[in-house]
Amino acid sequence: MSIKNLIKKLPKAELHIHIEGSLEPELMFKIAKRNKIKLPYSSIKHLKTAYNFNNLQSFLDIYYKGTNVLITEKDFYNMTFAYLKKAHADNIKHAEIFFDPQSHTSRKIPFKTVINGISKACEDGKKKFGISYHLIMCFLRHLSANEAMKTLEESLPFKNKIIAVGLDSSEVGNPPKKFKAVFKKAINYGYLTVAHAGEEGHPDYIWEALDELKVKRIDHGVRCLEDPKLIKELVKRKIPLTVCPFSNVKLKVFKDLKKHNIKQLLDNNLIATINSDDPAYFGGYINDNYIGIQKALGLNKKDIIMLAKNSFKASFLSEKEKRRNLEEIDKISKEL
Ligand code: ADE
Ligand code: ZN
Repeated sequence: MSIKNLIKKLPKAELHIHIEGSLEPELMFKIAKRNKIKLPYSSIKHLKTAYNFNNLQSFLDIYYKGTNVLITEKDFYNMTFAYLKKAHADNIKHAEIFFDPQSHTSRKIPFKTVINGISKACEDGKKKFGISYHLIMCFLRHLSANEAMKTLEESLPFKNKIIAVGLDSSEVGNPPKKFKAVFKKAINYGYLTVAHAGEEGHPDYIWEALDELKVKRIDHGVRCLEDPKLIKELVKRKIPLTVCPFSNVKLKVFKDLKKHNIKQLLDNNLIATINSDDPAYFGGYINDNYIGIQKALGLNKKDIIMLAKNSFKASFLSEKEKRRNLEEIDKISKEL
């Protein structure tokens, strides 16, 4: 079996996907049209020319404009179901999906509209494609802790639909400790916690996410390699990293895929996983990320199997479900 076919054949979990970042230009235009919203782009081609980023902020500025087309439950449903179709084509068996309620409630879209559209699509995806899922509600870190606290309270009627809270948006200047009280309360309400840290931000942000926010996973975390004590701690506490190779190159965290550090992360015994982040903006879904990084770094079949296994180990699935998926991977590995 070629390594490309192995990548396609392996069952995988995706743990770092912003659902708003899966909104493809074609669907964005279609939804804008039916909602009678004028996009600041004359065509899909024109929009795509804007997808040229210098850093995280230059991406976020465009990404938040794209979310403005989402108004009705149907919009959220269509966007989510389109992602699940792509996920199914890539043999994703489990997805832990981020959503940013504040991008919508700030535009007077009710929380209920957002969560119902997303979760109905996930339920249909589960029935149609057999993809299990969890939802993770992210707080926008460029907004205040007070606003995050309000969003946390607003989520409570839908708590049974949300497994964890996360932290995303502009990292530098918005350290994890800003949200310490919010995360403490979220944990008291029974949510698990994750946070973006060490994407652009200093490794100290990863320490803060661990110690102040008590996260179970770090999103990105690639800058941990700058701090040997931190590497040791992440290994000791078995904290996985949800790494997004295409995103890191598009947002200039690494100059190109050949310079990416995921192999070093694995060599340091970190539980690194591969994810797509915002696939509609960064040029590919999960298999594209696996294939791209495999080629660029010359990863072998053992590395690929390790990454697929890590995706389930790092998930919030039950031990039983983790085992079932890991056994599937073992079966495929034995056929090699
Ligand atoms: N929101 C969507 N994608 C993001 C990323 N890569 N980092 C921070 N916030 C985000
Ligand atoms: Zn992200």
